[in-house]
Amino acid sequence: MMLLNPGPVNVSDRVRQALSRQDICHRDSEFADLLHGIQAKLLKAFVPGAESEYAAVLISGSGTAAVESAVMSSIPHGKRMLILNNGVYGERLSQMVGLHRLGVSELKYEWTARPDPERVRLALRQHPEAHVVGMVHHETTTGLLNPVKEIAEVVDSQNRVFILDAVSALAGESLDIASSHIYMVAGTAGKCIQGFPGVSFVLVRKGFLERMRAYPKRSWYLHLTHYVDNEGRGTTPFTPAVQLYYAFDEALNELLEEGVAKRIQRYKKMAALIRDRMAKLSVKPVLTPDRQSNSLTAYYLPEALSYQVLHDRLKDQGYVIYAGQGNLENRIFRVANMGALTEEQFTGFLDTFERICLAA
Ligand SMILES: Cc1ncc(COP(=O)(O)O)c(C=O)c1O
Repeated sequence: MMLLNPGPVNVSDRVRQALSRQDICHRDSEFADLLHGIQAKLLKAFVPGAESEYAAVLISGSGTAAVESAVMSSIPHGKRMLILNNGVYGERLSQMVGLHRLGVSELKYEWTARPDPERVRLALRQHPEAHVVGMVHHETTTGLLNPVKEIAEVVDSQNRVFILDAVSALAGESLDIASSHIYMVAGTAGKCIQGFPGVSFVLVRKGFLERMRAYPKRSWYLHLTHYVDNEGRGTTPFTPAVQLYYAFDEALNELLEEGVAKRIQRYKKMAALIRDRMAKLSVKPVLTPDRQSNSLTAYYLPEALSYQVLHDRLKDQGYVIYAGQGNLENRIFRVANMGALTEEQFTGFLDTFERICLAA
């Protein structure tokens, strides 16, 4: 089955085979070596040249675990968080801080619009209690890429802390974490890194990590400094998904062999292949090209096909597309190009898509 949903993704045989390595105990040296190897590879891939300034913190759990641990661990007592919300995952950030009553008024945008840095600057001036700003890098709801560098500059100029949900972006989009003054970035193994879901991570600036130690503990499982202390000793506070760590390690080997920049270029090329063909078929994208990410495109449904019919006909032929969410649920479909997939596979999908449209 070719997965055109934004995670879980198709993985290589090499990554799949890594699942069956030997059974080990997470309190023994073999696990410490595995853990420290993954951390070093994450830093090399995503903060090259600034490895000593960041810590990579691993959590057994899907991307949401990493995002929630970053959110819950980053707010000092008496301070709050400002969320930039332009999609389902921005909304989710709001809900997380809302649960703990730690939010200030979020800045809400249309799902096809980007946050405006000047509005963020104004909001931070008006809300001295907003200590942290949270945003999603790639809003998977529509495939919209948010202006990370511009927002990070504003947040930094106001002496605030910027945290980024880059769960669907890391290894698919360029991101200069270190020079953009980003304090925390949440990511997952199971999307553009091409591992399995179930392991996620947060890249944290070390100076901020020390400050976080004084912040209130708001979760038992997701308190980030608890992980940092354990992982420093080569273990994890709770039983880790050991076999998924093996596969994650192998996926990172593949990423570093391919090169992060080349991975991004490959995704961009596959997205262009999809977009050119869809344009020829007059299938209309939800976003203008300047807003689109490298790894997902949202399209309005062709008139003659409901989502379910399109999905089922494609699935019969071995292709899984993805539905819209929220108010776009019955109006759009999404095609992700994440994972260990070849140009020939994408061409096969597009040929099948065209046949289904012509027959409808
Ligand atoms: C931007 C973004 N953030 C967070 C998540 C949540 O990740 P998970 O489903 O792995 O918990 C997703 C999932 O698609 C996502 O796209």
